[in-house]
Amino acid sequence: MKYSGMTVIAAVSLFGFSMYSEAVAKATVEVDYDHGKAISPLLMGVFYEDLSYAADGGLYAELIENRSFDYSAAEGRGWNALSFWNLETRGGGDGQMISDSADPIHPNNPLYLVLGIRNPGEGVGVINHGYGGIPLKAGEAYDFSVFARQLSSPASPLTVLLETKDGSEVLAQAEFPAITSSWKKYTAELSPNKTVDDARLVLLAHGKGRIGIDMVSLFPRNTFNNRPNGLRAGLAQAIADIKPRFMRFPGGCLVHGDGIDNMYNWKNSIGPVEQRKGQRNIWRYHQSLGLGYFEYFQFCEDIGAEPLPVVPAGVSCQNSGASVSGAWGQGQQCVAMADMPAFIQDILDLIEWANGPADSEWGAKRAAAGHPEPFGLNYLGVGNEDAITPGFEERFEMIYKVLKEKHPEITIVGTVGPAPDDDDYRKGWDVARRLKVDMVDEHCYRSPQWFWDNLNRWDAYDRDASKVYLGEWAAHDQGKKSTLRAAIAEAAYWTAMERNGDVVSMASYAPLLARNGNTHWTPDLIFFSNTEVFPTISYQVQKLLGNNGGDIYLSTACSDVEGRFSASTVRDRSSGDTIIKLVNGESDFRSVQVKLNGQIGILPPALKTVLSGANPDAVNSGRGAAAGDIVPVSEKIRVASSFDVRLEPNSLTIIRISGK
Ligand code: AHR
Repeated sequence: MKYSGMTVIAAVSLFGFSMYSEAVAKATVEVDYDHGKAISPLLMGVFYEDLSYAADGGLYAELIENRSFDYSAAEGRGWNALSFWNLETRGGGDGQMISDSADPIHPNNPLYLVLGIRNPGEGVGVINHGYGGIPLKAGEAYDFSVFARQLSSPASPLTVLLETKDGSEVLAQAEFPAITSSWKKYTAELSPNKTVDDARLVLLAHGKGRIGIDMVSLFPRNTFNNRPNGLRAGLAQAIADIKPRFMRFPGGCLVHGDGIDNMYNWKNSIGPVEQRKGQRNIWRYHQSLGLGYFEYFQFCEDIGAEPLPVVPAGVSCQNSGASVSGAWGQGQQCVAMADMPAFIQDILDLIEWANGPADSEWGAKRAAAGHPEPFGLNYLGVGNEDAITPGFEERFEMIYKVLKEKHPEITIVGTVGPAPDDDDYRKGWDVARRLKVDMVDEHCYRSPQWFWDNLNRWDAYDRDASKVYLGEWAAHDQGKKSTLRAAIAEAAYWTAMERNGDVVSMASYAPLLARNGNTHWTPDLIFFSNTEVFPTISYQVQKLLGNNGGDIYLSTACSDVEGRFSASTVRDRSSGDTIIKLVNGESDFRSVQVKLNGQIGILPPALKTVLSGANPDAVNSGRGAAAGDIVPVSEKIRVASSFDVRLEPNSLTIIRISGK
C-alpha cells in the first residue's frame, strides 16, 4: 500500500485488524570504503559570547553582582554604582553609603563604595544577594576577598557574613580586625554550614568614620579544573562534554561593539582583575571582564580546544547606536586611518601575548599570570559579520596584509556578513577571493526547512578558494527554544558539512549559553540558572556529533529516498572507528538498507545511538529523561556488509562500528 509516497504497513493485532497503520519511508545508503577524503579534524567547536549573562552571572564563577561598583545608567537599566547593594544597619547602627572615585585602586576601576558610619552600633555595612541569590554548598570552601581602605581614623574592624536570604541564620563568617589607610586586599576562606540556593553576603564595619570598599568577591573553590578566578564547574563541564575541537570567543557582536569605543579590547581583559576595565556590554548590561583572555585561553587548554579569538576589523557593529537613532544596519563606525597602526599593533601584541616567549613584552604578561609556556594560537578571526562597506574592506585589507606578512603561520578567518545569501555575503566572498583569505566566517540562522533545502550548499564550492568556518548557525523554529524539528535539521546539515569537510573546516552553533530570566536571544544551546544546567535538544545533537567526529569522509551515496533524509560516514583515524550518521526528518519510521562497499562478512560490534521523538515540536526542559526530555539511547548491534536499520521518526541515528 502506498500513501503520500510512503509504504503503509497494516499491522495485525491479537484482536484482528489493528487500530493503526504505520507509514514507513525508505532509503538506501551505500558507503564506499575505497573512496575517502581527508576532512577537517576541527569541525565541531563552540561559539562563546557574553550574551544573555553568559559571563558575569554565568560561566564566570564570581557570585557577587556588581562587585566593583561600576554599574552605570549607560548600561541601560537605571543602574548606578550602588545597584545590587543595600545599606544594612544593625543594633542601633547609623550610617550611609555613597560611591566615590577619588584615588581608586586603579584608574581602570574608577568607582568604589564609601561607608560613612556615624554610629557603628552592632555594625553598618552593605548586603549583596548575588545574581538573584547566592548558591552555597555546605562544607565547601568559598574564597572571599575585598579591597578596603580606611578613609578616616581610627581603623575600623570589618566583618563578612554569609547569611540565609532573610538573615535569620549565619552560614559562615570572618573578621578583619583593622583596615589600613591605603588600599589592601583582605581574604578569607568561608565554609557554609548549610546548603542554600539563595544566600546573601553581608559586609559590616564596626568603627566610626569612613571606609572605602571595592572588589567584593566570593568564589567557589570548586571551579572547573579548580582554577582560581575560574569557571562555574557544571556549566564548563557541559561545554567540555561536547568535545569541542575549538572555541571561538569573545563573540559575536560583542567583538565589534556598539560604536568604536565599545569594541572589545583584549588588553582590558588581562592582568589582575581589579585592574581590568569593565564596560557596557552591547547586549545592554555590564561586562566585568573578570572572564578575560587569560581565562578563555586557559579553558581552551583545559578542554583540548583550539583557541579562536576574534578581533574587530577596525569597524564597529553596523547596528551601533540603533536603539538611539533607529538607524538599524547603518551604524557602522570606522577606526580613523591615523589610528589604524596602533589598532593593528594591538592585534600583533595579542599574538605575542599568546605565543611569544616569557621574556617578550607581552609574553611576560602571560607568564606573570601563571602561564610561562605559550598558549599556541593558530587561528585568529578578524571581524564579525560586518557590513562589507568600503570602510570595512580598506581596514580589513590593512590588517590582513600585516598579519599575513608577520605571522604566516596563523590561519586568519575573515568575515562575509550576517547571512548566508545576501549582498554582504557576496561582497565578503569577493574580498576573500581577492585577498586569498585563509578562511571565512559564514553565519546562518534559518528555518529548519531551509537547512533541509540547502544540504547541497557547499558541494559546488571551489575547493581551492578560502575555507569556510560556519561560525554561527542554528535552526530557528518560529522563535521557539530548540525544537526536535530544529535539532534534527541541524543534524542533517551536519552530514552536509562532513561531506564537505574539505571545504568547511569548522562550525559552531550559536549562541552557546543563556541565563534563565536574562535571555536576550533565542534559541540557545544551553540554558542555566544559578544552580542548574538545562541542555536543549540541539545540545544533545551537538554533543553526539562532537563525540562522533572523524577525519576521513567515506563516500556515502543515498538513493531511493523519500522525504527528508540525509546521511554521512566518517572514519576516525585515531580509533579506527567508522561512524555512520542517518537523519530521518519525517515523522514516520524509515527503513534503510545500508551497504558497506569494500567490507566483507560480519563486521566488529557496533554501537547504535538514537535521538528521536514522535513530536517534532517537542522542546526539552533540560531536566533529563526522567522529566520526559529527548535524550540519546544506545544499544549494541551487529552489522554486516549489508544490513537493514529501521529509523525512528524525527531521528538522528549514529552507528559506530569499532575499528578494533
Ligand atoms: O549569536 C548571536 C548574535 O548573532 C551574534 O552576536 C552576532 O554575531 C549574530 O548576529
